[in-house]
Amino acid sequence: MADIQPLLRRPAPQPLASNENGRFDHLVRPDGMVHRTVFTDPAIFEREMTQVFGGTWVFLLHASEIPNTNDFKCITVGRRPVIVTRDANGDIRALMNRCTHRGTTVCLQAQGNASRFQCAYHGWSFSNTGELLTVTFAEGYGPGFDKAAHNLGRFPRIETHGGYVFGSLNPDVEPLPEWLGPARAMMDWSLTAFTTPGARVVRSSSMVFNANWKLQNDNNGDMYHVPFTHRSIAQMTAERHGAGKALDHFRGDKTPMVVQYVGHGHKLIDQRPAIPSPWERARPVPGREAYSQALHEGFGPEQAQHYLNMTGRAGINLILYPNMIISGAGSFNVYEPVAVDKTIVHSYSVVLDDAPMAVNALKSRFLEDFAGFGYRDDNEIFERIQHSLSTIPEMEWVDFSKGLGTDRESVGADGTITGAVSDETGIRGAYQYWVELMERDVHPCVLT
Ligand code: FES
Ligand SMILES: [Fe+2]
Repeated sequence: MADIQPLLRRPAPQPLASNENGRFDHLVRPDGMVHRTVFTDPAIFEREMTQVFGGTWVFLLHASEIPNTNDFKCITVGRRPVIVTRDANGDIRALMNRCTHRGTTVCLQAQGNASRFQCAYHGWSFSNTGELLTVTFAEGYGPGFDKAAHNLGRFPRIETHGGYVFGSLNPDVEPLPEWLGPARAMMDWSLTAFTTPGARVVRSSSMVFNANWKLQNDNNGDMYHVPFTHRSIAQMTAERHGAGKALDHFRGDKTPMVVQYVGHGHKLIDQRPAIPSPWERARPVPGREAYSQALHEGFGPEQAQHYLNMTGRAGINLILYPNMIISGAGSFNVYEPVAVDKTIVHSYSVVLDDAPMAVNALKSRFLEDFAGFGYRDDNEIFERIQHSLSTIPEMEWVDFSKGLGTDRESVGADGTITGAVSDETGIRGAYQYWVELMERDVHPCVLT
C-alpha cells in the first residue's frame, strides 16, 4: 500500500451533492475548476431547463423565418415544444405546443402557414395568438367551464434585435438590450457589415451529439483547441493551398486576436485583427475562381471585393448564452438540449436576396466547408469528454483556469474581461453566470 501512495493525486473524493440547499457555487470554483456533475447529473440538467432556459432570454428564431402573416415554426425551448407564430397584426408570438385539454401537441408540422391549430385528439381549435376558439361538443361542459382559462400558454416576454427574436418565460427578466449589453454592438457590427436589407435566414443542417449542451457552448468560445482538434483540416489546407488560409491565423497567443467575456454569459472570440480580408483568408471552395470572376466582371473590382468579403469567415464568434452562436457573416447555430448527454445543433445560413447569386453560393460553400468538416471534429471530442466525466467519478474537476491570475487578462470600463485568444476567460465568465442563474429565485410561467 505504501508504495502506491505517491501515485495518488489527491485524497479519496468526498461525495459532492449536486444541489445543496439550492447552492451551486461549490460546483464552480474561483480557481476555474468546474465539477464534472455540472455536465453529467440529470438533476442539474432538469434544473437548467427551468433556471437557465426558463429563467433568462433564449433565442427563438430569426424573424425572416416566418416572414408572412400566419407563418409559424415549431421549435424547442429547454425541451418545451413551442410554436412561434406571426399573427394577423404581424406580431410574433411564442405559444406552448400543448393542448389545454389533455395535453397533446396541437401542431405537428415543423413549419407552415396557418391562422388556427386544431388538436388531433378531441378537436379543440386555437388561433395563432393562442386563443381557444372552439370546444367540440361544448354542451358537455357545465357553467363553471372557463374558456378563457384554456388558451394556449404564451411566453410572457418576447423582444427582437436586428431580426433575432428572443423569448423568456421569466416575466421579470431584464429588458433585452440590457441583457445583451456589449454583445449588442457585436451583433450590430455583423448586421451592418455582412447582411443587407434583403437578408433571409435559411436552415442548413442539424447534427446530434451525445454530450451535454454546455460542451458546445464552451467550445465555441475556445480558440485553444483549434490547432489540435482541427489539425487535419489545417494540414490539408496548407498542403493543398499553401499558407495564409483558414485556421492558420492561430498558432499561439502572439496575435492581436482576443477572447472576451461580455457579461450575462455571453462571450466573444474576436479574430478580426488577424483577418483583414475574410475572402483572402477563406479556404478555397469549389467554384471560388468562377464566382469571383463573375463578380469582378459584373460589378468592377471594388464592389466585387466588397461582395467577396461578405462571403468568408468574418472573424467573430459571438456566443449568446445559453443557446446560440453568431459567426461573423451572419450564419449562426442554435443548441437544443435534449438530455444531460444529448444535444442537437441546428445550423442556419443568411441568404442575401438583394445580392448577386455568386455571393449566396459562396456563403453556402463556406458554411459547408467548416461546419460540415469542423463540427464533426468537435462533436467527437464532446462525446469523449461526456464518457470520461460520466465514468470516472474519482476525478472530479474540469479545468478552465487558463489565463487566470496572469497579466493577460484585463477588465474594461464596461466590465468586459479581455484575455489572450486561447484563454478560458469567456468560459469562466459563462460559468459564473450559470451559478447566478441556477441559484436565482425565478418563477417561469406562461400567460393564458
Ligand atoms: S387533448 Fe386536445 S382536444 Fe383533447
Ligand atoms: Fe472546434
